[in-house]
Amino acid sequence: MDSTKGAIKIDQDQTAKILIVDDVPGNILVLAEILYAKYEILIATNGVEALEITAIEQPDLILLDIIMPGMDGYEVCSKIKEEPTSRDIPIIFVTAKNAPWDESKGLEIGAVDFLSKPIRPQIVKARVKTHLELKRQKDELKNSAQRLEQMVFDRTMELQATIKLLSNEVEERRLAEETAVRNARLASLGTLAAGVAHEINSPNNAIGFAVATLTRLWHGFAPHINEYRQQNGDMDICGISMEEAIETISTLVLEVGNNSKRIAAIVTNLKQMTKGDMENLEQKVDINRALTSAVGILDNIIKKHTDHFKMDLKDNLQPVKGNVQQLEQVFINIIQNGLESLPNRDKSVSISTKIDNSKDRPNIVVIVHDEGVGIKNSSMDMITKPFYTTKGDDGGTGLGLSISKTILNNHQGEMNFQSLPGSGTKVIIRLPIEKLVGGSML
Ligand SMILES: Nc1ncnc2c1ncn2[C@@H]1O[C@H](COP(=O)(O)OP(=O)(O)OP(=O)(O)O)[C@@H](O)[C@H]1O
Ligand SMILES: [Mg+2]
Repeated sequence: MDSTKGAIKIDQDQTAKILIVDDVPGNILVLAEILYAKYEILIATNGVEALEITAIEQPDLILLDIIMPGMDGYEVCSKIKEEPTSRDIPIIFVTAKNAPWDESKGLEIGAVDFLSKPIRPQIVKARVKTHLELKRQKDELKNSAQRLEQMVFDRTMELQATIKLLSNEVEERRLAEETAVRNARLASLGTLAAGVAHEINSPNNAIGFAVATLTRLWHGFAPHINEYRQQNGDMDICGISMEEAIETISTLVLEVGNNSKRIAAIVTNLKQMTKGDMENLEQKVDINRALTSAVGILDNIIKKHTDHFKMDLKDNLQPVKGNVQQLEQVFINIIQNGLESLPNRDKSVSISTKIDNSKDRPNIVVIVHDEGVGIKNSSMDMITKPFYTTKGDDGGTGLGLSISKTILNNHQGEMNFQSLPGSGTKVIIRLPIEKLVGGSML
């Protein structure tokens, strides 16, 4: 025997632990002697000690004396039953002969049985064995219930994960279908647009030619009509005065001319949009040269919009694989947008190029920075959509950025916008540099 916290522990390497609680050591010895051969015995000589040992050792069964100084057996039993960690430990009350014993109270507060003194070894062994077996079965039931609960939980989780996976798949399939339908619609729209563009081109060319001739003739003719009016007095033409009629004809001829030019621009853009894929994208494009060429084409527009046009091109850029005309078209569209955004000629547009090696594949970065009116956050998603324009009155078709985006996509490039309304916009274009082997592109 050895002692822990005043309790004598007889270790017989048995799994079941029995706590004997009694204030009379002689009584403890009687019970311990009966049981120690089969069980691990723990001993407490008062209620407080019994609660401490129960909390630490978690015995499988407690033999509890009722009459003890301080905390009596009923109170110890109630406290053990209050604790969730110990409430399932079976308690057998040990009652003294002739001592007042309230069996129903004992059972009510949670005792499973009682033994009366004098102790009879066979009865003690039998009761202890029975209650330990009952506890073992109860524990097993509890464990299987817990295992079942865990299994149900695991299965529910698995099912939830499967449902999520399935709904993701359904969503992906829905998006793929949507994209396929949209692409098919765009493809047929493209074909339609190309057809319409072609059909519109000839009559519009005729209108353009007719308007040019009309304008020229009218400019020659109008002064004579004016002279006639001044000599012979004004006359009524279709309900308006001759003077008003001369002015109206001048304005209308100009308007027809401008609108014909706008139609021509839309036709050119539509054609550009539809022929995009068919052009040779295998040329070696020198980006600095394409930019310089775009700026050359825009010369008059630059002069019209700003006194501060700047270029800062990095020397010796590696070429990009693609189509020179298409990339020039992108630069023209974006630089022109920058110029058109300027509120006055004091504001600047600057263009720069650089290499960015921070990504998996090196990129050439072109930045077009304007000090223009900027783009509202709420419009950002719209500006690259076909026909979105805020320049309807000035002949904008709203196709510039949409075409540029398609061209850049075909070149594995991208275009991003950073803008502060009122301060200006930075358009950042990235194009991947192709590796060169023996002078030819990979
Ligand atoms: N740098 C910029 N600053 C401010 N707004 C811009 C800028 N670039 C584009 N936008 C806005 O995006 C719209 C769409 O541009 P996009 O180039 O596609 O068409 P557009 O310039 O209106 O017409 P088009 O280019 O066909 O003549 C413009 O109308 C303008 O509102
Ligand atoms: Mg534009």
